[in-house]
Amino acid sequence: MNQATSIPTRFARLLAVGLVLTAVSAHAREEAVVKLDPEGETQLVHPDIYGHFAEHLGHCIYGGIWVGEDSDIPNTRGIRNDVVEALKELDIPVLRWPGGCFADEYHWRDGIGPREDRPSMINTHWGGVVENNHFGTHEFFDLVEMLGTKAYISGNVGSGTVQEMMEWVEYMTSPADSPLANERRANGRDEPWKLDYFGIGNESWGCGGSMRPEDYADLYRRYNTFVKNYGPRIFRIACGANSFDLNWTEVMMDRAARNMDGLSLHYYTLPTGSWRDKGPATGFGEDAYLATLSNTLKMDQLIADHDAVMDKYDPDQRVGLMVDEWGIWTNVEPGTNPGFLYQQNSLRDAILAALNFHIFHKHADRVRMANIAQMVNVLQAMILTDGPRMVKTPTYWIFEMFKVHQGEENLALGIECPEYGDGDLEIPVISASATRNPDTGIIHLSIVNTHPNEETRVLFDFGEQPSMAVGRVLTADAVDAHNTFENPHVVEPTEFTSVSFEESGMSVLMPPKSVVMLTLQ
Ligand code: AHR
Repeated sequence: MNQATSIPTRFARLLAVGLVLTAVSAHAREEAVVKLDPEGETQLVHPDIYGHFAEHLGHCIYGGIWVGEDSDIPNTRGIRNDVVEALKELDIPVLRWPGGCFADEYHWRDGIGPREDRPSMINTHWGGVVENNHFGTHEFFDLVEMLGTKAYISGNVGSGTVQEMMEWVEYMTSPADSPLANERRANGRDEPWKLDYFGIGNESWGCGGSMRPEDYADLYRRYNTFVKNYGPRIFRIACGANSFDLNWTEVMMDRAARNMDGLSLHYYTLPTGSWRDKGPATGFGEDAYLATLSNTLKMDQLIADHDAVMDKYDPDQRVGLMVDEWGIWTNVEPGTNPGFLYQQNSLRDAILAALNFHIFHKHADRVRMANIAQMVNVLQAMILTDGPRMVKTPTYWIFEMFKVHQGEENLALGIECPEYGDGDLEIPVISASATRNPDTGIIHLSIVNTHPNEETRVLFDFGEQPSMAVGRVLTADAVDAHNTFENPHVVEPTEFTSVSFEESGMSVLMPPKSVVMLTLQ
């Protein structure tokens, strides 16, 4: 195989445009081949698959986002500045709130008006703590506007009335001179807010009401009828299945497909596969690493299976599949409140996130949104806080590196690569996804090497050879490497230069346990 140095003209040109190439070792084996499928369909990667989720749970909202106007922690109208500044770097397209399970016990009227007058409640799902309702509708939209995201609110079907839901939507979105819109104005907001997405219940098969799909389908239709459009049309999302429950999707599509724009799907990656002992967030061995990635890759088949059911009722794919909760769920950190779901976040989780994004890209024809659980201090978080301190997690960096994929055309790829595993359990060593910017033609190529110990050379045959590649890599010494308040820069992206151009294509030498993002021109 030709090395970069054997094509001096191209090499010289690349150096001229500022790209530093590392000549790939002559001993490196070519182990994986990725080809562009010219016959494959190009689908738009909906930006909203890079969405987030913030629930009234543990220290996601309180402490993580909301500290109150009187806090010593620098804030703007009660929302912490450091967290907003970090999150703005991610170009977050949509934010889901207030739950989760919390949504089905949330009564919106408790969260408006002067804060000192707002009634408290017990957050029965998450630690039994007292919720003072200081972060409510106005504070949520303030955050949404600070971040420049779309708003996705989950309404209360489980313990709320149709009237309550109807009035909340009117309060938020009506421009009229009506009592509810005027109450909003009296509380400080003149213009209606743009409510992009509205979820009608959450996990109605579980914490949202323990319903059968037949019952929920009827209830969905009734509640949905009273979600009115006072301004721009609201995209309505019905509660979808728990992981592999295809019957839920079947019943919902059969009975209510015409009444919905999207159907949700929740799938959490449990390292051990068991809710009783999910496994630790750090300090795990290679077995747990492999099992975790194998479990996360089930997302691919899961989406394909639900998509197949949806296709029966909706062959034109009008109804979107909204994966509005996903991510790794481990045991909580020792000594923390089990109801707060606080877990560390390692390089493994970053790799897991990248693999899931590749799966969402592949299913771009059906998957219109995905929301990582959750944004701050809960489950697979972007950010961890401790009083005034804040640290960005490895998963944060995947969202930062991958944001360039948002809204681009997904290019179909064929991948041939070896497997990594222990004989019983095997996963592909290489995962890759390429998207093209429709305006500039620039291609963004993300690549994952799942092998924890071995580098892998990947040859990319894109037909027309790119003439330039610049990129960054996220990796570390160990799969459970993570950032702490004391050592916040252990897992961070660095410049990646192991790219060479050969007659047969572009060759990339992927370090073990790494994620690379390249920009090709
Ligand atoms: O994200 C944590 C919880 O997981 C959510 O509240 C619920 O919807 C799901 O079970």
